[in-house]
Amino acid sequence: MCGIVGYIGRKEAYPILIKGLQRLEYRGYDSAGLALISEQSQLNVYKAKGKVADLEAYCSEKDISGYVGIAHTRWATHGEPSSVNAHPHFSASGRLALIHNGIIENYQTLKDKLSKRGIAFRSATDTEVLVQLIEYIMISNNLELLEAVQVALHQVIGAYAIAILDRNHPDTIICARQSSPLVVGLGSDGSFYLASDASPIAEYTDQVVYLNDGDIAVLQEGETLHVVNIDNVTQHPKVKQIDVTLGQLEKGGYPYFMLKEIFEQPGCLRDCMRGRINADRDKITLSAVIDFREKLVSARRIIIVGCGTSWHAGLIGKQLFESLCRIPVEVEYASEFRYREPVIFPDDVVIAISQSGETADTLAAIELARKSGAFVFGICNAIGASIPRQTSTGVYIHVGPEIGVASTKAFTGQVTVLSMLALTLANERHTISEEMYKEMVVELTQIPDKMEQALKTNEQIERLAPIFTYAKNCLYLGRGYNYPVALEGALKLKEISYIHAEGYPAAEMKHGPIALIDSEMPVFVIATRDKLYEKVISNIQEVRARGGRVTALVTEGDERITQIADHVIELPDTLECFQPLMVSIPLQLLAYHIAVCKGKDVDRPRNLAKSVTVE
Ligand code: F6R
Repeated sequence: MCGIVGYIGRKEAYPILIKGLQRLEYRGYDSAGLALISEQSQLNVYKAKGKVADLEAYCSEKDISGYVGIAHTRWATHGEPSSVNAHPHFSASGRLALIHNGIIENYQTLKDKLSKRGIAFRSATDTEVLVQLIEYIMISNNLELLEAVQVALHQVIGAYAIAILDRNHPDTIICARQSSPLVVGLGSDGSFYLASDASPIAEYTDQVVYLNDGDIAVLQEGETLHVVNIDNVTQHPKVKQIDVTLGQLEKGGYPYFMLKEIFEQPGCLRDCMRGRINADRDKITLSAVIDFREKLVSARRIIIVGCGTSWHAGLIGKQLFESLCRIPVEVEYASEFRYREPVIFPDDVVIAISQSGETADTLAAIELARKSGAFVFGICNAIGASIPRQTSTGVYIHVGPEIGVASTKAFTGQVTVLSMLALTLANERHTISEEMYKEMVVELTQIPDKMEQALKTNEQIERLAPIFTYAKNCLYLGRGYNYPVALEGALKLKEISYIHAEGYPAAEMKHGPIALIDSEMPVFVIATRDKLYEKVISNIQEVRARGGRVTALVTEGDERITQIADHVIELPDTLECFQPLMVSIPLQLLAYHIAVCKGKDVDRPRNLAKSVTVE
């Protein structure tokens, strides 16, 4: 949700900024812009509606010289996508340029105040108010930029990661964060890199500082990083090492990141289990559980919070914890939970699931749970993000950077971590037998190999995909562990192909959605061999009887469904609770190939952004 990049050092800033924007484009792609301080100390700002490539084209004949610059890729909140509303925004005098990720909630009040004092606004954004306010305070109180930023941020309500250039101080970038991520990279040559996440920084340095809420950092080439808070108290940030490799940030020969990430899943799950499941495959060790055993094992209840795909993973977690550990579980949309005045007990364990670790609603749900005294456990992918830093403990899913906007490998990574956690707690609570525990651990370690088999359905699915491009609506049906996978399959299709789709528990269909079924309606049924298999066959018959067109995902060797479905996709057998890991693969591939057939930009679906850092 908006991406920020910055550089100050001895290299030309422009190529670093453009490359950084390309890496962050998954965060927003309706417009982009950059500001550079030229060799003649001019503050040049260039902006363009559309993608980073449009900005590059716009800059092709401009003065792009300079060793200091900031850049931004936008996901619009206030004000339509346009070059005027794109960042950076100038102050009234043109001395300051500012970029911003987040939302200034009291921008209208501040704007009204400044307008009364004669300041004219050029854009419809909430961001412009920040740069105007900072300059107004600076001039009217005769303050230095840093002091003016501190005074201004005292007046601001909302979320922000900002970076500011001052024409009069061409040797400095000032940046600040509150509830929106910001990472500073420390170059070995005294340079500084700045970004919303570590991906634009990784190719230049592995030394980074993740700014904390309330931090304001002053970046000056050759100087040590100076961090203060809004009350000017010096902060002592920790330098961390990032472990992102360049290969993880490139498409690696695939046409889209999404396809690469789908195919990466077997390796990702091996990474996720590495060091956590022993070589004999009979023991799972999660350090978070060792450190907080008592809290977790004696949980009276688990509340899982998350959004979108992470919420779907939570629904699978509910079934795992309830059936294996016999702990009652509630799964909540973080966005609802935070405003619902939920009852939270001190002996509840709240599990927050998030790929990005920056989702604003999930962070707010964590805050609420913490205030209620609950123990908060994070399941996250992005290393060093806000959620792992704000939870009591947690587990990284370790699937590597997920760049495709539609989540794929993060989902299966989340389900794998939930499976390991549920098995660990079940073993500790003696709610499953030792034999069953071991059998399940062994099976979990076999999932990556079975996923490789499941990925072989790719060609079949690619051939089938054109049949579905005409569809206006699709139905996804599943039961038990596969019901959340039906929801997730429908979400994938909606996101990237813009076909309306609904996920439904198969047996609920006759309570309403069956009215929608006709020969135009593709119905995807998850019908793997499990305890509800016979029931799902009846559900397929109900669809067939109304002329519906059934594509069934079945366990390999299934002969009965082959007789009644229009198409079958065969998948390796596994335990019922791990079937979501298998079934997700063809559903992700289906969404992908349908979207590609429809000519959609799979990695940059309209209106979406990868990291939802605003409410
Ligand atoms: C769907 C998708 C979103 C995210 C949701 C939560 O493909 O990516 O639904 O799952 O925005 O994001 P995280 O997991 O980063 O909190």
